[in-house]
Amino acid sequence: MRSLTLTPLLLASACALPEIHIEKRDKHNNGATNYFRRAIPGRLDKRQSTVGTNIFNVLSWSSGGAYYANLTVGTPPQPQTVILDTGSSDLYFDASGAQTCQLPEDNPNSCRGGTYDSSKSNTYKEVSAAPAFNTSFGDGSTAVGPYGSDVVGVGDVLVQPVQFGVANEVNSTTGYSIGLLGLGYSANEAVTSIEKAYQNLPEVLKDAGVINSRLYSIYLNDERAESGSILFGGIDKSKYTGELATMNFLPPVYSGQVDGLIYQFITTITAANVTANGQTTNLWEGGSTDINAYSSDDTSVPVLLDTGSTAFQIPQSYYARYIAPAFPFVNNQGLCSCKYATSDYYLSLEFGGKVSIRVDASEFIVPYVDPETRKTQSDSNGEVCVFLIQPGERSSRGFYIAGDAVLRSMYVVFDLDNGQASIAQAKVNNTDAPSVVTVAAGPTGVAAAVASGVETAASNTWSIAPEVATSTLSYAVSTAASTIGTATGNAAIPEDAQVAGSGSGSGSGGSGTGSGSGSSSSAAAAGIVHGGDLTAFWVASVWVVCLGLGVAVMM
Ligand SMILES: *[C@@H]1O[C@H](CO)[C@@H](O)[C@H](O)[C@H]1NC(C)=O
Ligand SMILES: *[C@@H]1O[C@H](CO)[C@@H](O)[C@H](O)[C@H]1NC(C)=O
Ligand SMILES: *[C@@H]1O[C@H](CO)[C@@H](O)[C@H](O)[C@H]1NC(C)=O
Ligand SMILES: *[C@@H]1O[C@H](CO)[C@@H](O)[C@H](O)[C@H]1NC(C)=O
Ligand SMILES: *[C@@H]1O[C@H](CO)[C@@H](O)[C@H](O)[C@H]1NC(C)=O
Repeated sequence: MRSLTLTPLLLASACALPEIHIEKRDKHNNGATNYFRRAIPGRLDKRQSTVGTNIFNVLSWSSGGAYYANLTVGTPPQPQTVILDTGSSDLYFDASGAQTCQLPEDNPNSCRGGTYDSSKSNTYKEVSAAPAFNTSFGDGSTAVGPYGSDVVGVGDVLVQPVQFGVANEVNSTTGYSIGLLGLGYSANEAVTSIEKAYQNLPEVLKDAGVINSRLYSIYLNDERAESGSILFGGIDKSKYTGELATMNFLPPVYSGQVDGLIYQFITTITAANVTANGQTTNLWEGGSTDINAYSSDDTSVPVLLDTGSTAFQIPQSYYARYIAPAFPFVNNQGLCSCKYATSDYYLSLEFGGKVSIRVDASEFIVPYVDPETRKTQSDSNGEVCVFLIQPGERSSRGFYIAGDAVLRSMYVVFDLDNGQASIAQAKVNNTDAPSVVTVAAGPTGVAAAVASGVETAASNTWSIAPEVATSTLSYAVSTAASTIGTATGNAAIPEDAQVAGSGSGSGSGGSGTGSGSGSSSSAAAAGIVHGGDLTAFWVASVWVVCLGLGVAVMM
């Protein structure tokens, strides 16, 4: 979901939605395999096989919501809340000295996830001076500072040394400035050269012996549920229904050519239906599951499985042809009445030609929460919701984005070692006792762990980004004094971020929001077609302009 360099070409053609954090990183690891070597196993104080922590969605912290996890960093441990992001690869914390972090808490740009003061940690070491860590995201957010290392706490383990960015300068465009846990391949880190690539958290957990392979499972859970989970090293069989279907990730595209290396979580949506009022309409089908999915005459939509993006972004032509007619109540600002969230509309999306995922309207039509007042909004049609299926353009890497809007309905095992995802329908609001199985290393790890109920896939024939070598590092693991991220339900959400129930005196309604009359692009661009408090949300978005004019717009 992030970008390091925005090429002029890319900017000129981008019709990007800040709220979906479109990947625009123009990074390529030419022959990366040559630079990586096998890791040397670290020193272990503790051996276990999985580590889990709860995650939570905070609608009021980021436009359309985002998923967060609690970690600790330093000695003594400093608690931090970070965004969970499968679309990028660096962990970073907001530095206590950052200018943004001096802003009062109610400033829409402030640092709400905690800050890190490295001078108060006995175990901090600077790895490379600022601006060694310098990253920017598809939504325009930026973070710059040194790379450092320290003890990091996740779930019930403390592990060290873990390298991360210390964001001395941080600025978020779509919500509060909150640190981030990038869970992608280390090959996609924001380093200036491949020699500077470092083991990121999934790799450290593996090489410290906490987990057996670079693998974790994500269960975001229902939009209205307050907590989900991430489980490193294992699969919780209680959190999905039906079978897991394993599929190979596709390599991204580079300079118009398919890159030979898997370093992002790209798969295909090969078919889709929409059901409204009991009537099912076939949208598209028969798409390719291999690199032909990138071909412009193929029906597949190649997508990045990106927890760091809010929306489900699909090709503009698909939006116009399929989605807009199926959801006529969505206005040209991407808003609609929340009554449609509880309608019987749903999408069925087929991933990798293998598994159909039902995505209910309530997962992609979510309450609009004003980031300043942290209140939901109402107009004459009732509560105002954001429609999280959005038209977009292919990223420079060739993919569209399956963000939280669809990932909520999925249980996804991200298997980095094998370049595969295993996907099943999430059992949302699951109340069954956890049924955790540990995944062993190797190509049959997932299948062996779940024993039955998995549709396997042949090994990925593309090269898979290998781990970074750690010839000079050895890791130490210990048990955390208190497990981090155990709160569930409403208690999982930091108290100051809990939104009062909808309906109760829901703030100042944007008076013009329901009108949806083909607004003139100039009015839309000036942010004046919508009333009051909604301006803050849409003023940063160029989507209205993109839709209205059907042309590319520079961000
Ligand atoms: C970070 O990188 C961007 C893009 O390359 C560059 O414009 C900016 O000057 C860098 N920031 C610092 C502090 O070096
Ligand atoms: C952060 O970004 C916003 C929007 O681009 C800008 O208005 C603001 O000045 C930036 N703040 C800092 C501290 O850079
Ligand atoms: C899940 O639970 C939330 C409240 O905890 C509820 O609003 C929602 O309707 C539930 N979802 C389903 C699919 O039952
Ligand atoms: C769409 O509906 C058709 C007919 O009802 C069904 O055969 C097909 O499997 C469905 N596709 C998806 C992606 O659910
Ligand atoms: C995360 O931390 C915040 C405050 O630091 C706390 O209120 C919340 O309950 C924690 N969430 C989880 C899942 O532990």
